[in-house]
Amino acid sequence: MKPLREGPIVTLDGPAGSGKSSTARAVARRLGYRHLDSGALYRAVTFALLEAGIPEEAWATLTEADFRALQVTVAAEGEALRVRLGTRILGPELRTPRVTALASPLARVPAARAALLDLQRQAGERGRLVADGRDMGTVVFPDADVKVFLVADLRERARRRLLEQSSEAPTAVEMDAEALRIAERDERDAGRAVAPLRRPDDAVDLDTTHLAFEDQVRAVVDLVRARTRG
Ligand code: CDP
Repeated sequence: MKPLREGPIVTLDGPAGSGKSSTARAVARRLGYRHLDSGALYRAVTFALLEAGIPEEAWATLTEADFRALQVTVAAEGEALRVRLGTRILGPELRTPRVTALASPLARVPAARAALLDLQRQAGERGRLVADGRDMGTVVFPDADVKVFLVADLRERARRRLLEQSSEAPTAVEMDAEALRIAERDERDAGRAVAPLRRPDDAVDLDTTHLAFEDQVRAVVDLVRARTRG
């Protein structure tokens, strides 16, 4: 599929709260590429299942066809890729604590992953894409032109996640609780049988613990420019 592409594919993988999505979005904007937030797809399927009233215990018994029937899709709207449920564009409803907590167990279900694979590859067909998630460089786009693996200390990730949710500085107790939630999710994402969170062998590591957001965006943009014609 590579020869059909008009431009590069850049993948950003990493654990929860490492800044993948916000970095990927900013990098895509800077380079004039599209951004695929694969986590939003897992969240959208989770949201759809909750809305359809399908109990969590039944999710592992659903087939690929069942998951496709939910009609979660990705649609290009100008330069943006929007996640849709039927005709409805999903946004903030994907980031509620309930959806966040249940997206990770949903992402363990092989049929759910299989149902989302084509959607993700189609989004990358033309290239000029920055894709972020857990398995972008390993499973979805193994021949990506540039692969980055983002990491950051657990407490720093917890702090960022809480700041995303509230403008007030988090307390130590809140940080501990959030760090625990993130650690549990990392463990589940890294320990699952299908497409576990794993550093692609050919990825460049980027530790964002001590980097300002703008610096981590620049680091990825510079890397892409150095590896491609830009
Ligand atoms: O933003 P955050 O890292 O917290 O989560 P996300 O990227 O929106 O992903 C939500 C959940 O989807 C994660 O906990 C993973 O279990 C799952 N996921 C996945 O399995 N594979 C991907 N490529 C992306 C997300």
